[in-house]
Amino acid sequence: MTRVTKLSVVSLLLIAAWPALAGDSPQEQRHELMEHVGDAAKPIGEMLKQERAFDAGVAMASFQTWAEAAAAFGDLFPAGSETGYDTEAKATIWSDRAGFDAALAGFAEAVDAAIAAQPQDLESLNAAAGPVFKQCKGCHEDYRVEDE
Ligand code: HEC
Repeated sequence: MTRVTKLSVVSLLLIAAWPALAGDSPQEQRHELMEHVGDAAKPIGEMLKQERAFDAGVAMASFQTWAEAAAAFGDLFPAGSETGYDTEAKATIWSDRAGFDAALAGFAEAVDAAIAAQPQDLESLNAAAGPVFKQCKGCHEDYRVEDE
């Protein structure tokens, strides 16, 4: 195997490890990350609406996705990424960075608590996920441009 081939195999593996971050710009990366956060919310919402059977493993996998997103999200708002790529990030993220960081920390805390709770039925899932959804909504109200 030539060196070039080895290198491209390594980079392929890296891309495969986190396809969500395949886009280059921070705007694309945070958009993709939030799409994953949204996708992870779907099965939980369906369970709570009893459109799908309770599954502790699926719920925990969603919590895990949220925890990983919470850890990565804060780094994706560097100076210069305020606009472009149809970003829905509000200018307040940069003008009130401390407030945004606090919103993100609140989200991470609620997710950690949900993981620690390890819900085993619908009632405990509701108790664990409710505070997380409140954090989603709170941050979107202050730091995400509303959909038209
Ligand atoms: C700390 C702030 C914060 C928290 C907490 C948060 N979001 Fe977001 N979310 C954002 C921002 C900012 C954007 C816009 C990102 C961009 O366009 O650059 C966004 C965008 C989105 C999008 C749109 C993705 C797209 O297609 O553009 C979805 C879906 C979403 N969030 C779901 C959620 C859900 C579900 C939760 C909770 C489980 C959550 N978010 C928690 C800040 C947050």
